[in-house]
Amino acid sequence: MRNKEREICANMVSRRIKSLPREWPEVREHGMPTTAIVLGTGWGDALNLETLWSVPLVWLHGFESLEQLEGHKRELIFARLNGKSVWVLSGRIHANENPIDLNLPKMVRLQTEMLLQLGVKNLILTNAAGSLSGDIKVGDIVVADGFVTLFAPKMPLWGGEFCSPEDTLDKDFRQLALKSAEGLIDAHQGGYAMVQGPFFEGRKYDKAILRMVGASTVGMSTLPESCIAALYREEGVKVLALSFITNTDSEDHSHEENVKRVNASSSKLGELISRIVAKI
Ligand code: HPA
Repeated sequence: MRNKEREICANMVSRRIKSLPREWPEVREHGMPTTAIVLGTGWGDALNLETLWSVPLVWLHGFESLEQLEGHKRELIFARLNGKSVWVLSGRIHANENPIDLNLPKMVRLQTEMLLQLGVKNLILTNAAGSLSGDIKVGDIVVADGFVTLFAPKMPLWGGEFCSPEDTLDKDFRQLALKSAEGLIDAHQGGYAMVQGPFFEGRKYDKAILRMVGASTVGMSTLPESCIAALYREEGVKVLALSFITNTDSEDHSHEENVKRVNASSSKLGELISRIVAKI
């Protein structure tokens, strides 16, 4: 049964997007994408996209109150990447952004749900994360094989929407990502713990707990998108979640330094995504 949020989203997509792209010559030529990439911190600069069309998120119904980010465009992009059509969501909305905007949870949900309403089946979620293991170094990639949800904020789900985000993390996608990383970047598999932020969890005590429950990485995104994808699992939606490791669990934490570190690896990340998309 459709719930209220799904109605709102379907409405938005049909009114503003769904009918539009089919009319563009580029879409007629290439078809509607079935793959979407949600860009995490620093991942955007990495992609070798041929942008065919883009729309600022704030233009779309449901996102009117969205705040713009400095130096970081929030938009939905229709692009070609390594021979495939893709949707790219840039400037992802985080659950910790604006505590006084009551629309925030709705927007966090809609950004993923609109992609799925547009027919996306393969959802590639990227993020920047901290390592919780000595084996996982700054500059490595971790492919999520599960979630630690115990410390996550409230998800943008409605009562009754029982779902299992972990089950959308597709095993074949994980293998594809690990294979694609060979010779390019050191890659691991592990559990991703979501924390609310925007403050960094404590290194001395919080991280010790996260390690104790088995998490390999910690970050402030990706779980909400995976929850929404899980609602569409029966429709064939699968998720690949990739973390770029920006920091260890013991050093001082700095967002600025993290961004610098992702940027330093941007060409490798671009190549990784490009290899994955070609084979998906
Ligand atoms: N913790 C939470 N979020 C993060 C981290 C971290 O160590 N690094 C990048 N995003």
